[in-house]
Amino acid sequence: ATVPQHILVTGGAGFIGANFAHWVARNHPETHITVLDALTYAGKRENLDGISPDQLTFVHGDICDAALVESLLDRAPSPTSAQPPIDAIVHFAAESHNDNSILDASPFLKTNATGTYVLLEAARRHDLRFHHISTDEVYGDLALDDPHKFTEHSPYNPSSPYSASKAASDHLVRAWHRTYGLRATISNCSNNYGPYQHVEKFIPRQITNILAGIRPKLYGQGLAVRDWINVEDHCSAIWTILVRGRIGETYLVGANGEHSNIDVLRMILERMGRSPDDFDHVNDRPGGDVRYAIDATKIETELGWHPRFTDFETGLDRTIDWYRAHQDWWMPDKAATEEKYREQGH
Ligand code: NAD
Ligand code: DAU
Repeated sequence: ATVPQHILVTGGAGFIGANFAHWVARNHPETHITVLDALTYAGKRENLDGISPDQLTFVHGDICDAALVESLLDRAPSPTSAQPPIDAIVHFAAESHNDNSILDASPFLKTNATGTYVLLEAARRHDLRFHHISTDEVYGDLALDDPHKFTEHSPYNPSSPYSASKAASDHLVRAWHRTYGLRATISNCSNNYGPYQHVEKFIPRQITNILAGIRPKLYGQGLAVRDWINVEDHCSAIWTILVRGRIGETYLVGANGEHSNIDVLRMILERMGRSPDDFDHVNDRPGGDVRYAIDATKIETELGWHPRFTDFETGLDRTIDWYRAHQDWWMPDKAATEEKYREQGH
């Protein structure tokens, strides 16, 4: 196991990247963190507040900017510098929302595909360890009654512009490993929930709708199933793969958390003291995936990783509490997000 001394975390001001930076700060104070983030609508610098400035360097910039990326990596070890040179890249930066990708795919292709290419080339030049964060959506969807789950052998079959752009990025990482010997790993994870998730996503949208006096919005009949994982468990899986994963391998990450959307919505309503029918049905997502489900046997048996926060209802309560306590964090995004959804009939 090689613990990196200095990681470049792309997209570290977004939902999972920020949770990961906090996780590393809490568990590995010996590892310096440089966050590179473009602060799109989905990123906030303040998501990193609380991490000691001794451990964190924040760089505001775009992963597609090859000169900027090169300037961060091009540093020989120096006895006078406070930090060792970057020795690993943990790549979260992406356009992440399916509904946005249906309206306009171009930033998805730019950031998810071209941005990943820029980082791979930089990692290759500097012979860095590279861990790529990806999604189970690259495998398409499963029927509700399919007894199988996704495994590392499932065929790529993405449905949306977002998942197609993530599939493209996975293929680039695999090609850079095979062709150039880049020391890369990939994780494909299921749906995360927890603090700092943008109000455009399903769980935070419904919690903040209730807090803001708006009726929750369910796509279609709400029968689609997502496999929920607490973001803390995703963070520990990423660290495990970064430090102990076999080079060139893909690991699926999930926590056996399958629930239909209508069940999740009713759990939120109940936990927030509302009637279980106090919501609106709205337009379904065009081409929306029916079900995702992860078989995490490989990471569990090979690397000994196990999820810890598997009580979904307790996790939902903590998440509700977080959004209640952080109205200043989400309120500025709420009206514009709802207006965009209204235009789409969502
Ligand atoms: P997010 O949208 O909350 O955050 C993305 C971050 O990337 C933001 O801070 C944004 O400013 C930054 N960013 C976007 N374009 C950039 C660019 N060109 N240069 C630099 N920074 C840029 O996303 P998230 O939900 O935290 O997802 C993070 C990663 O995890 C993505 O790669 C996503 O595909 C993957 N993933 C997400 C989930 C999930 O449930 N949210 C599950 C599996 C995998
Ligand atoms: O599976 C991993 C993926 O999970 C990640 O790769 C994506 O980045 C992440 O956004 C997430 O994608 P989903 O499309 O599954 O998540 P979303 O929160 O957008 O929607 C979850 C389900 O809830 C989906 O079936 C659509 C539905 N939905 C969504 C919203 C926003 C609603 O019913 N109502 C809503 O208001």
